[in-house]
Amino acid sequence: MADKPKHGLARGLTNYGDADFSLYLRRSFAKSMGYSDEILNRPVIGIAQSASGYNNCHRHFPELIEATKRGVLAAGGLPIDFPTISLGETFLNPTSMMYRNLMSMDVEEMVSAQPMDAVVLLGGCDKTLPAQLMGSASADIPAIHVVAGPMMTSLYKGERLGACTDCRRFWARYRAGEVSGTEISEVEGSLATTAGTCAVMGTASTMACIAETLGMILPGTASIPAVHADRLRAAEASGARAVELAQEKLTPSQIITEKSVENALRVLLAIGGSTNAIIHLTAVAGRRGIDISLDRLNAISDETPVLVDLKPTGPYYMEDLFAAGGLGPVLHELKPLLHLDCITVAGETLGERLATPPGYVDHDVVHHFDDPVYPQGGLVALFGSLAPDGAILKRSAAEESLFENEGRAVVFSSLADLADRIDDPDLDVTPDDFLVLQNAGPKSQSGMPEAGYLPIPGKLAKQGVKDMVRLSDARMSGTAFGTIILHIAPEAATGGPLSRVRNGDRIRLSVEDRRLDLLVDDAELAKRKATADLADPKRGYKRLYADHVLQAPEGCDFDFLKQDAE
Ligand code: FES
Repeated sequence: MADKPKHGLARGLTNYGDADFSLYLRRSFAKSMGYSDEILNRPVIGIAQSASGYNNCHRHFPELIEATKRGVLAAGGLPIDFPTISLGETFLNPTSMMYRNLMSMDVEEMVSAQPMDAVVLLGGCDKTLPAQLMGSASADIPAIHVVAGPMMTSLYKGERLGACTDCRRFWARYRAGEVSGTEISEVEGSLATTAGTCAVMGTASTMACIAETLGMILPGTASIPAVHADRLRAAEASGARAVELAQEKLTPSQIITEKSVENALRVLLAIGGSTNAIIHLTAVAGRRGIDISLDRLNAISDETPVLVDLKPTGPYYMEDLFAAGGLGPVLHELKPLLHLDCITVAGETLGERLATPPGYVDHDVVHHFDDPVYPQGGLVALFGSLAPDGAILKRSAAEESLFENEGRAVVFSSLADLADRIDDPDLDVTPDDFLVLQNAGPKSQSGMPEAGYLPIPGKLAKQGVKDMVRLSDARMSGTAFGTIILHIAPEAATGGPLSRVRNGDRIRLSVEDRRLDLLVDDAELAKRKATADLADPKRGYKRLYADHVLQAPEGCDFDFLKQDAE
């Protein structure tokens, strides 16, 4: 019988009551796949991959897996790929967010239960990378992530289009009667035309930049387009690096630290990143016992300008960020504010990485620190009587003239109510009103969908109204633009103040003071019955979700998955 190595296939033996028998049986079954002794004695590098026919963003994963395997083999490891759940953003009901924690559990458990000395995780579409980061942080074996990379843009009648800011822009124009049915069908075929994740600074791109800043993907790889040959080279290099990580025993707990999380938070603000990313980063950090407070977010936001001019904040796409130099130049601009002693999966510190000048940078896309796109961070947290535990506004993608404002509430009690009435010609609404959506938070029937981008009521859209103050406990796609307040906590479904707002109430927003207040006195509020609408599924994962999901300021993770639950 072969020697018993302390690594590789000998890790985590199946329990038959006889360890030698277990290894003998495992090797025997592995040999049925044609492996030789030489290769079975190598370090095993798992490749957690999330290809799926339901995930267009990952359609190039077969060749990405091949490239990763090539890197592992060349470096002396044995690559073994395995599937996990995949979450194709637009294919899941009621929302992919509900399944992020399920995927994180799948990743954690399969990485922990199967024998591997290190793991490469291939993901990218909105919830997949957060789920994988959460899973690898909890499993805490040597891990390196590879992101899908962004889609390329395409041209429609001479106009550059990329998912998904342009998806929403055209849909709004269609609703306003400016775009015909024929044209919207043509646009449908031109928005997402290659493999890869959404082409703008949406959630997937934001999370890729966060993963690079945290140090969980190789430096310089966040923005490489999905279809670019460099993407394959990044996968190959990541596979090779995983073999070294297995020997160095460098684990996520050494990489995801309070300091690297703060760096990631700062980069999130400097890239004008997605509102969803604050939830995901909070969840990832929570897996290592690190808390992110919204007060700290505000403090960092005040001293961190937006430097990257991508949609939905500006005119450019992710492929432009890649051509402009990638995330590296952003990190160089922020260098005085970053913790430079953070170690990365490359085995170097952030400071060592940034010791080399960035080379060519297109400063139309990545601005200098003293010539920012926006003087402060992209996101800001609001607090007040309507959001005691906080709410989020992406101020860099909002209409500044609406920031200091008081308005009359026009309330929708659920997504179904919104769908029923938003285009009713008799809806009592003016452009100065605040649209309020209730019961769209994590514990609601709808499971916190990206429905916070409430459409402009049909009759106002036709008058040319482009933006209004809109607020809810829902999320919003990172690709959307508007004065939209999200993640209100506690959510309406749990009886939070949002559930007691009624038509005609006055609400005051002050971005300067970080306030969101319901101007109704306590005696009147006490008389009102909450319109709470808690989800109450009877069985399965949805029951688990309903019982254990936390609020947005805690990352919407499950209470028992946070590290301090151990
Ligand atoms: Fe996959 Fe946008 S749909 S990243």
